[in-house]
Amino acid sequence: MLLSPVYPSPMHDFGYDVTDHTAIDPVYGTLADFDRLVRRADELGLRVVLDFIPNHTSDRHSWFVRGRKLGDEYRDWYHWRDPAPDGGPPNNWVSAFGGPAWTWDEHSGQYYLHSFLPSMPDLNWRHPPVAAAMLDVARFWLDRGVAGLRVDCATSIGKDPLLRDNPPAEPGALAQHRPLGEYDNQRHLHDAGHPDTHRHYRELRRLLDHYPGALSLGEVHEPDHQVWAGYYGQDLDEIHLPFAFGLLEAGADLDALRRAVLETTQAIPASGWPCWVAGSHDERRLASRVGSDRARLVLLALLTLRGTPVLYYGDELGMPDADVLEILDPWGRYRPDLGRDPARAPMRWQHGPGAGFTTGGVRPWLPFSEVEPVSAQAADPASTLHLVRTLADARAAAPELRLGEQRFLDTEPGVLAYSRVLPGKAESVVVINGTAAPVVVGLPGGAEWTVVARTRESVSGISGSYATVGPVEGVLLRHRVDRMGE
Ligand code: NOJ
Repeated sequence: MLLSPVYPSPMHDFGYDVTDHTAIDPVYGTLADFDRLVRRADELGLRVVLDFIPNHTSDRHSWFVRGRKLGDEYRDWYHWRDPAPDGGPPNNWVSAFGGPAWTWDEHSGQYYLHSFLPSMPDLNWRHPPVAAAMLDVARFWLDRGVAGLRVDCATSIGKDPLLRDNPPAEPGALAQHRPLGEYDNQRHLHDAGHPDTHRHYRELRRLLDHYPGALSLGEVHEPDHQVWAGYYGQDLDEIHLPFAFGLLEAGADLDALRRAVLETTQAIPASGWPCWVAGSHDERRLASRVGSDRARLVLLALLTLRGTPVLYYGDELGMPDADVLEILDPWGRYRPDLGRDPARAPMRWQHGPGAGFTTGGVRPWLPFSEVEPVSAQAADPASTLHLVRTLADARAAAPELRLGEQRFLDTEPGVLAYSRVLPGKAESVVVINGTAAPVVVGLPGGAEWTVVARTRESVSGISGSYATVGPVEGVLLRHRVDRMGE
């Protein structure tokens, strides 16, 4: 269970602008409440993972408040620079949220750097006390029993020591995230991803290694697969699970999905483990991007590909984007088409006012989106929730879905099929048909197959070693249990 930031914050970027890394914002409760949450989660067999935000703080953080004063020992904790000769910002870097990445500080007569909002200044990781302080933050939460950390904007802490201008983006270059307007006009060569970053992740890993089972997930946006895979570390000694965004980018294009899976897995070092992401709080909802039928196809892939799936809450209901009238997200204020509020609607647990998320009469911070709630979907075998639960159960029951090799089967364009196999022991096969006509796919020979899950009721069926799968349908098949010798 991965929580978005819960630390005290003025919420200019919904918690990513932290004022105190080792406390809980009062809107969520107290540190004692947090400890109770971790304990209760543990009792339920769940582990809590926290968002760890190394690149920036709020401008109200005491480090920045002090650093704003010339000569204060915290000055070097952030990036302060004199103006360029023309009086403008020191270089051409732009903020992902729009406008220059530098803001003039009248009081101290220098510019400071912010990759996001002006109220989110970037920390200077070349200053050793910063790295030490952030490791202390990680230690604080690990000592409280969290199971791991999601490293926010993992590449951003690596800035060019000379703060050189970014070159223009090459035409047609992959962005690895949704279009961000002006930000995409540059190649982010110098404002992120400097190789020196890796030593910090090795240090974080050494810390995590003291806590049995603790893991790091990494928000690593990097279009070059080899560079991206570098965040695993040369000796698998950096981030355990850098997020692979290939599923998110491919959407419902199954040929692109297959390419992304192949390219990603080929780049990952031997013994490295993939981690697939199909949705997030920064993207439009899966069901809105690809439509609800195709969203089920993507969920089938997410839960059966070799690797760890990251499921964004609500996607298991097929939750679409909510209709948001008042834009709260800073990105949305800069460019309404980039706003992330619609993907952040509260969970719908049940019918009725408050939807089980809050009590009736209390208005949640964003409107609910139009989707059948958990209580209704749980009772409906044709629901998306039912499909996701079936797939999760299948994963738990079938070791090959967790640990088996992955082999792609030959198919026509628009169809994705792969086998997950523990040779000599067990095999599952996934066939996903994104085309408008039924397809027949040859199954690995000699076995009797049974349907474990299908994304909808249709014409699909198995005859001998062939599976017929209906239009826009996916199936998960397995050898008959009685033939697997389990
Ligand atoms: C990445 C987070 O996922 C996003 O929500 C946030 O706005 C930026 N980092 C800035 O912290």
